[in-house]
Amino acid sequence: MRTRLCDLLGIDCPIIQAGMGSFTSAELVAAVSNAGGLGSMGASARSTADLAKELARVRELTDRPFAINHTVRFLNKDSFALTLDARPALISFAIDTPGDLVRQAHDAGSLVMLQVPTAQRAREAVDLGVDIIVAQGSESGGFGGYVSTLALLPQVVDAGGDIPVVAAGGLAAALVLGALGVNIGTRFLASAEASINPRWKQEILAAQSEDTLKFESWNDIFPAPDGGYHVAPRVLTSPFIKEWMDKRDEARRESERLRGEIGTAVEHGTWGDLLPFTGQTAGLIHDVLPAADIIRHIMAEAKQTLKATAKRYVPT
Ligand SMILES: Cc1cc2nc3c(=O)[nH]c(=O)nc-3n(C[C@H](O)[C@H](O)[C@H](O)COP(=O)(O)O)c2cc1C
Repeated sequence: MRTRLCDLLGIDCPIIQAGMGSFTSAELVAAVSNAGGLGSMGASARSTADLAKELARVRELTDRPFAINHTVRFLNKDSFALTLDARPALISFAIDTPGDLVRQAHDAGSLVMLQVPTAQRAREAVDLGVDIIVAQGSESGGFGGYVSTLALLPQVVDAGGDIPVVAAGGLAAALVLGALGVNIGTRFLASAEASINPRWKQEILAAQSEDTLKFESWNDIFPAPDGGYHVAPRVLTSPFIKEWMDKRDEARRESERLRGEIGTAVEHGTWGDLLPFTGQTAGLIHDVLPAADIIRHIMAEAKQTLKATAKRYVPT
């Protein structure tokens, strides 16, 4: 099953493994790309040296296309310069407007993808000249907005015109709503290759969708910059989340200390103990699998679902 997205990116399956900062590893990116999808190396929450090391390893493990992902709000300029030098097939962005970064990525010879939480941001993405838009519904893991995929995706498809749109979510459903592929995070966190603490993987398996929540206090700890739009991370609960969830004023007063605490967690690889980013899709995830098996399952289920859907309707 191919779509125009496959031709554009030189891949076989319309499945993009979302860039998830330091929770992605060379092993995960290469496993996804070797299985016919598009692996994404996340640049957020990792040093430039670490990104360079992981990219070198990706090149050892695969010669297939892959993406490098940056969050605009937390952009590390040195890592972005390294990304331009690496000239991946795709450079993807999320959280705030990338502005001139789009031109720089194009000048380096990479395609550009931008994740958006609203139709308005999709229209801006069109004006910026991006090549692919991700419609990110509110159920998504990590930072995101407040509009559900069912309401958002058709609006982004309309806004995108000829620009391929992909959705965070189920492949068959995304295709029916006009997307040409999917951008999937949480399912790949619960993969054998994801470089997160095994405890976090087990928490994803145990979670129901309703166990995830939007951690609004993040915006008191890290206020959005001027021009930044409102997003909040979707997480599973943890002692840190329980402590700060409902104490927004105090979180604002203590923001410097809390930023330090989060920074230390990034350095020590214990982010998942504080802020276990997880999407509502967790309710669908019951096993940790190799990334290649995840792609095979998603493709098989999508084909089966589309066939079964067609059978449910009698043309009149
Ligand atoms: C742990 C985690 C970290 C994430 N980090 C990023 C990131 O650095 N950049 C980005 O573009 N998206 C990031 N996302 C969001 C994904 O791009 C995507 O929208 C989301 O994973 C889709 O929902 P799902 O997790 O239910 O598949 C992250 C998601 C998760 C779960």
